[in-house]
Amino acid sequence: MSETKVIARVAVPGVRKEQTDGAAPSSAPSPAAADAAASSALHALAPRADFPLLAANPDLHYLDSAATAQKPRVVLDAIRDYYETSYANPHRGAYRLSHAATERFHQARATVARFLGVADEATLIFTRGTTDAINLVAAAWGAANLEEGDEVVVTGMDHHANFVTWQRTAQEAGAHFRIAELTADVRIDLDHLASLLNDRTRAVAFPHISNAVGTINPVAEIVRMVREKAPRAVIVLDGAQSAPHLAVDFASLGVDFYAFSGHKMGGPMGSGGLIGRRALLEAMPPYQTGGDMIEFVHDDRTTWNVLPYKFEAGTPNSADAVGLAAACDYLSAIGMANVRAHEQSLVVAMSEALASIPGVTVFGPPATERSGVVSFALAGAHPHDLATILDEHAVCIRAGHHCCQPLMRRLGVSATARASIGAYTTLDDVRAIREAVAAAARVFGG
Ligand code: ALA
Repeated sequence: MSETKVIARVAVPGVRKEQTDGAAPSSAPSPAAADAAASSALHALAPRADFPLLAANPDLHYLDSAATAQKPRVVLDAIRDYYETSYANPHRGAYRLSHAATERFHQARATVARFLGVADEATLIFTRGTTDAINLVAAAWGAANLEEGDEVVVTGMDHHANFVTWQRTAQEAGAHFRIAELTADVRIDLDHLASLLNDRTRAVAFPHISNAVGTINPVAEIVRMVREKAPRAVIVLDGAQSAPHLAVDFASLGVDFYAFSGHKMGGPMGSGGLIGRRALLEAMPPYQTGGDMIEFVHDDRTTWNVLPYKFEAGTPNSADAVGLAAACDYLSAIGMANVRAHEQSLVVAMSEALASIPGVTVFGPPATERSGVVSFALAGAHPHDLATILDEHAVCIRAGHHCCQPLMRRLGVSATARASIGAYTTLDDVRAIREAVAAAARVFGG
């Protein structure tokens, strides 16, 4: 299953209609964004100097942004400033410092909501990340709605956060767990997906972008199909890899829930969220119980707080919410259309550079239809050995199943090597990985 060399422009569903930087609402960059991409590919769209770890390691080629993104200084500064100037437990004190902390926490939610196209900011629940967000939906919505004989649909490209969570939830409810198969070039097989949808389908959960190979899925088409064929289903979109790389507009995606991780966006680890339709969130029982999520606690019963607090039990991770908001501001200042254009030009360059090395297979659709991921294999080399050799060249990639064992089985491999890019990646990083893989090919090729 290797990619073809066909380069095609594709529309990316869920991309904001009105870009703040005036770019077109598709993955095809506007001329201005394309020009910016051409020069930023050389010089980095996000200057290396903005990222303390990269600045301190000028020879490091960090190509593992799909696993986690490096942190811009403004994020680290925002967290430090919050702790140093406004820190107390939000929502709990009558004193001014607690009000200041509460205000910073509320501002953070407003900023993140704006960044993701959420008009009703109370429908953005802060979570520990995508995994926590999907578990929230599966546990709270699933417990209240799934019944024996119902059907839940995921895809063969889901990462474990989505796949395993819905598998377990379905099994516990006595529901059937269905898996939409993939095409040879690692897209969701839409005909097969359509054949799985019916009146018993109660949830359809799939990734906006595959973390393992970078496929950008046709969300609008899938949403239309699900609404037509499975009108009782909720649609859960795993946005772990789209929030950092596309201009996401929750309102126009048409899904019911969207889960994302802050740490992949340049925000802190342990930050992220779930966005949901208000009516669904209001009808769902709480996920966890404890402080802040209650309204009144009687000896024999408890009533719940309003959104979003009903789903945010305990002391909130407010400092990391502040850091995540700073990451959103940083990405907004760059412009998500520019991020997409920059990453697209680099993923094309990197795919071509690696595919030109004898023995290399690149997985997935054509590079223009992928996010900033190049998942590949080198004949005769285990991906872990390859990653170790690349590390000797100061090139950081991920090797393994990428939390996608079902996908690896479908690709017929146990693991791949995966290079992934971000706004700070440049053509110099592409050159470095090409040279390092070529050197490894010489070793393994004998
Ligand atoms: N899901 C993350 C990745 O793709 C950890 O690497």
